[in-house]
Amino acid sequence: MKKIIIAIDGFSSCGKSTMAKGLARKLGFIYIDSGAMYRAVTLYALRNGFFEHEHINESALADSIKNISITFKLNKDGIPETYMNDENVEQEIRTMEVSSHVSPIAALPFVREALVAQQRKMGEQKGIVMDGRDIGTTVFPNAELKIFVTASAEIRAQRRFDELKAKGKNDTYEKVLENVVERDRIDMTRAVSPLRKADDAIELDNSHMTIAEQLDYIASLAENKIKS
Ligand code: CDP
Repeated sequence: MKKIIIAIDGFSSCGKSTMAKGLARKLGFIYIDSGAMYRAVTLYALRNGFFEHEHINESALADSIKNISITFKLNKDGIPETYMNDENVEQEIRTMEVSSHVSPIAALPFVREALVAQQRKMGEQKGIVMDGRDIGTTVFPNAELKIFVTASAEIRAQRRFDELKAKGKNDTYEKVLENVVERDRIDMTRAVSPLRKADDAIELDNSHMTIAEQLDYIASLAENKIKS
């Protein structure tokens, strides 16, 4: 089968990763969660005291960035998990604490430069599905297939709230909605690689689609690209 690069971008909590993971499994491609990489850097900054209230100690983080190695390994069920310097951080990077600090970290040009370089390396062999905010615009502008996912903020917050609740976290819906809206705002207005739809991306509003429906839809788009 021809190997291509599939870029899935969009707003926070719109189900990109579920879609990207399912598509990768169906095609036998590798799934890469670029958001997990920004989350891991954020976790590192939080653990090392690089946040002074809401201010980030940028020079301390810039000095450390080359020491942060982020990799993905499959667990026993074949699901990829995020490792930071060989420690499994998959659970810890998904907390509201990390969610509420990640967008300012992801707006720092030196953080983006370091992670985009790692992401391009991961795509050298093609056969990948990568999700994020700037995959179709900056990381892989020549990706063979680009999808831009949207859904209303309320629907996205409800999905994230249900996911956190299932994991036993008791954040309120209001707090989750506020975080979703605030991250979108920072992601869309930052100077470097702001979140926007690439001109050649296909827009998909999945507000009223089931997981199975969206997977069928993007799998058929991908199969057509692979055949062509
Ligand atoms: O899962 P969710 O869509 O809520 O977020 P994520 O994909 O885990 O990404 C977390 C944050 O990382 C986003 O809100 C962005 O600020 C940042 N990010 C980015 O700037 N560029 C990417 N390619 C991926 C994520």
